[in-house]
Amino acid sequence: MMLRIGIILGSTRPGRNGEAVAKWVQQSATRRSDATFELIDIRDFNLPLLDEPVPPSMGQYSREHTKAWARRIDALDAFVFVTPEYNHSTSGALKNAIDYLYREWNNKAAGFVGYGSAGGVRAVEHLRLIAAELQIATVRAQVQLSLFTDFENFSAFKPAAVHEGALTAMFDQLVAWGTALRTLRQDAARAA
Ligand SMILES: Cc1cc2nc3c(=O)[nH]c(=O)nc-3n(C[C@H](O)[C@H](O)[C@H](O)COP(=O)(O)O)c2cc1C
Repeated sequence: MMLRIGIILGSTRPGRNGEAVAKWVQQSATRRSDATFELIDIRDFNLPLLDEPVPPSMGQYSREHTKAWARRIDALDAFVFVTPEYNHSTSGALKNAIDYLYREWNNKAAGFVGYGSAGGVRAVEHLRLIAAELQIATVRAQVQLSLFTDFENFSAFKPAAVHEGALTAMFDQLVAWGTALRTLRQDAARAA
């Protein structure tokens, strides 16, 4: 079975730069034959601020939007989080979407593409801590896109060529770890 990797677009605001970044990630991924990649726009799921009465780790989802989101994430083996940096962290929308689920994230791998004035590095550092709590294994290689040098007028995405190498390194590590963790996912599925 080919590894299924979700490219999670983590910003929702009108005019977001994230859309062009996520499409660039997806476009680059089409050159690979070791996994399939799909774009997941959290905006499509219309998730309100977390409104589940039971903590997600209990796995008792009651809302239709939660169940739809859970089905989408459950089907994936690994993730590329495309995150903006808002006030030195990730977006509230992405944090909220992550908080909705638990088991669906477990024993999977993730890589990061951050962007912002400082390459999104602080957003990615926060996401790595969040991922640890969800038993997501995060790979070292990451892409850091600067609003100053990878966007014209802070809005038209023109990534410097050097980022292709970082993206490839991230994909390589993500496929390796996503594949290695398959055994744990299968064990967990058997035990459920
Ligand atoms: C609420 C808000 C807070 C921001 N805070 C930071 C920040 O702390 N550090 C940074 O490098 N850029 C910051 N920025 C700039 C964003 O990273 C930049 O506008 C980016 O394009 C936002 O992603 P989006 O266009 O996909 O929403 C901030 C932008 C917004 C809207």
